[in-house]
Amino acid sequence: MAVQIAPSILSADFAKLGEAIHSLEQAGADVIHIDVMDGHFVPNLTFGPPVISTLRKYTRLPFDVHLMIENPERSLQAYRDAGADWITVHAEACTHLQRTLAQIRDMGALVGVALNPATSEHVLDYVYEDLDLILVMTVNPGFGGQSFLPSSVKKIQRIREQLVERGLRHVKIEVDGGIVPETAERCVNAGASILVAGSYVFRANSLGGAISSLRIH
Ligand code: DX5
Ligand code: ZN
Repeated sequence: MAVQIAPSILSADFAKLGEAIHSLEQAGADVIHIDVMDGHFVPNLTFGPPVISTLRKYTRLPFDVHLMIENPERSLQAYRDAGADWITVHAEACTHLQRTLAQIRDMGALVGVALNPATSEHVLDYVYEDLDLILVMTVNPGFGGQSFLPSSVKKIQRIREQLVERGLRHVKIEVDGGIVPETAERCVNAGASILVAGSYVFRANSLGGAISSLRIH
């Protein structure tokens, strides 16, 4: 399966987000990962629908919107209208997870669910059929530049086994947090096919060099 690279603009210069997105497309990114934080679900605050909609004109790449917010069901439509192509909610933030996933499906976006490092993959048992994408957090969400938590590798393997057993190989596993070439390789070997990377990509001398160093064939 081809690996997709989804750079996170959390590590970009927020005063130049449009330019950053344009440069990421030129540098070979497959998807743009957009981290939405509400200061409640996570102890940090980023941007919401108005900023995302102004960024939409800078690229034709899909916007992978990672909602680290409480009560995401209340604002899904606003994110979709702002240009989100993939919408991922946290299982921990949804009281009625299946209903929220069905809402995303009805909006015509790709449906994702994210799991914090301490959340068991068993929360997915009754929603696998509702998903396009499972985002395994490999750090505790809230900040860029943290270290990869090795316990996530087993979780990725277990989810991959479930997908194979259930005949749902088309569902993608995305990993997010502490991704550098070495951790990328471990995640891909365990079954991940979308790699989010923020600080690694933006700290590099060349965006293109960083993106290609994460691709594993
Ligand atoms: C963390 C965010 C990540 C973050 C990853 O809460 O969800 O997408 O940008 O940053 P790095 O790659 O620096 O760990
Ligand atoms: Zn993210």
